Amino acid sequence: MHGIVLKGLKDFVVDSYDRDTWQTLQREAELPHRLYVPVTEYPDEDVLTLVETASRLTDLPVPDLLESFGRFIVPPLVETYGIHVDADWTGLELIANVETYIHLALRAKQISTYTPPELEAEWRGTDTVSVVYRSDRQLCHLARGIINGVGDYFDEPYVIEEPRCMHAGDDHCELVVSRAPGV
Ligand code: HEM
Repeated sequence: MHGIVLKGLKDFVVDSYDRDTWQTLQREAELPHRLYVPVTEYPDEDVLTLVETASRLTDLPVPDLLESFGRFIVPPLVETYGIHVDADWTGLELIANVETYIHLALRAKQISTYTPPELEAEWRGTDTVSVVYRSDRQLCHLARGIINGVGDYFDEPYVIEEPRCMHAGDDHCELVVSRAPGV
């Protein structure tokens, strides 16, 4: 996983708790003193081990932690890769365009080390976008958090339904994102 994600995870823990908590987490996860910088690729296991250890230490379920982390990481993602984000988009338009304009562009970068997931987005009317998520990492809880983080960023709250989920035996996850009623 890319360093921007790992660095985001560190910032998430330091922001939510403090620097000592991050160091304790690294120690407990048996990844002490590892520095995460945004331009480097790290093993996926680092993210998973850190999140699982955080879950053990806090008694918070892994899916909830992934979702909170996804929500937290949107501003740094958008600010780092803002060149791929059209200033006129609404949040829902960004979600509909992520694959074509952002994930695909990251994957295609020369000498790319980015491996973002494959998303298929489809409008259902004007207020709903269906997002199909496929990734061996099976991080749909992170995807849900990122979508809600986009909602926070654009001040555009969403209701998300997940009629299909890899964790329930389906071969993909589907997140159906609608603008919250009355907004
Ligand atoms: C709004 C809908 C979005 C969803 C559902 C989504 C989902 C995800 C997920 C779940 C991952 C973790 C990797 C995996 O599961 O295989 C990921 C990685 C990533 N995403 Fe997205 N994302 C979204 C938007 C964005 C935006 C707005 C940006 C940047 C402006 C972005 C940039 C990235 C980057 C840089 C990675 C790391 C790739 C790597 O480790 O190589 N994503 N995305």
